[in-house]
Amino acid sequence: MLPSSICYLVEGGHQAPSADNLQPWLFTWDGETLVLRSKELSAASEVFGRDSHCEALTMGAVSENIVTLAADAGMEGDWDLSRENDTFLRFKPRSVKEQVSLPVQHEVFSRHTNRFKFDGFDTAPPYLQELEGLSQGACKLRVCTAQAEIDVLADLVRRASSLRFRNRILHEWFGKTLRFTRREVEGGTGLDVSTIDLPPGGGLLLKLIMDWGRMSRLNAVGMYRLLSSIEAQAIRRSPGMLVVLGPRSEGVDAGRLMERAWLGLERHGLAAQPYYVVTDQLVRLADHQLPAELVATADHLQAASKTFLGDDADAFPHMLLRFGKASKEPPRSRRLPLDRVVLKAESNSH
Ligand SMILES: Cc1cc2nc3c(=O)[nH]c(=O)nc-3n(C[C@H](O)[C@H](O)[C@H](O)COP(=O)(O)O)c2cc1C
Repeated sequence: MLPSSICYLVEGGHQAPSADNLQPWLFTWDGETLVLRSKELSAASEVFGRDSHCEALTMGAVSENIVTLAADAGMEGDWDLSRENDTFLRFKPRSVKEQVSLPVQHEVFSRHTNRFKFDGFDTAPPYLQELEGLSQGACKLRVCTAQAEIDVLADLVRRASSLRFRNRILHEWFGKTLRFTRREVEGGTGLDVSTIDLPPGGGLLLKLIMDWGRMSRLNAVGMYRLLSSIEAQAIRRSPGMLVVLGPRSEGVDAGRLMERAWLGLERHGLAAQPYYVVTDQLVRLADHQLPAELVATADHLQAASKTFLGDDADAFPHMLLRFGKASKEPPRSRRLPLDRVVLKAESNSH
């Protein structure tokens, strides 16, 4: 059994966001050191690849939760946040408390993705200025509240999303991650469709188009254009957008920064939804993972992204987030039971 202070850190790490709620992490405790590792997900690695940018970003978010909780609870010890193969964090606390009462009210436990409509703010919250000043390593944030800037980002999402809807591997993968019934949701992973802002009948439509044969026939008459425009429209109507920028190799730092900014937004009463689609298409383009017929469109996406965000190597968009005042509290996504993500390790304590 984990000591309660370590369990607290593990539970906080386990609340991190992950692409399609896959939770690709494992924790071990040997009596002295807490270790965070990434977990091989065979199906997902076909889509995102082992050692993917997506994995680094996610593990950065988990690390940020653990570091934040430990700092706020006054837990001291030796930290090693340098990545080594599948290991992303090692923490050897100076003392281990077996019985402590720790604040479960911490924002790490309430952070969530809100895919519903956001209301605007009359005057920009002062926190936004603070956000502009946040950084982690070589990664920084760009905050956009001017409609012209938000429109450009919405257009990037439209272009990227139109690519995704034409990519059989990505489309079928997305279908596999959707959870429609209560039983499926209770499995603890994947995307609960009730967290998606769908119009009446939208769930049924989603189910129907997940069949690639049907989707490709519909794409021939422009379905991908319609769906990507709907996605972009949600951004156009949002009061603010956040871009996490940095060198492409710095996915872990970008993930830490994303999580810190997201926790801060919620602390200041704002809700957020991340959009990974632009990053994902740019990574696939650079790594030659796109079907040949989509490369020219992806080149245009890349050119448009560089025109807006800059051509420097340290201006790679790691993540886009829209934010604003929540108009609706979304259902909270589930997690796997803790024993599925905590690996038993040999004890060093005696
Ligand atoms: C790398 C990464 C990519 C994500 N991409 C998207 C996305 O494109 N659209 C979206 O709505 N949510 C996205 N999410 C949010 C996850 O779907 C969400 O974190 C997960 O379902 C768990 O839900 P929670 O954030 O409410 O805890 C992403 C999260 C991560 C870490």
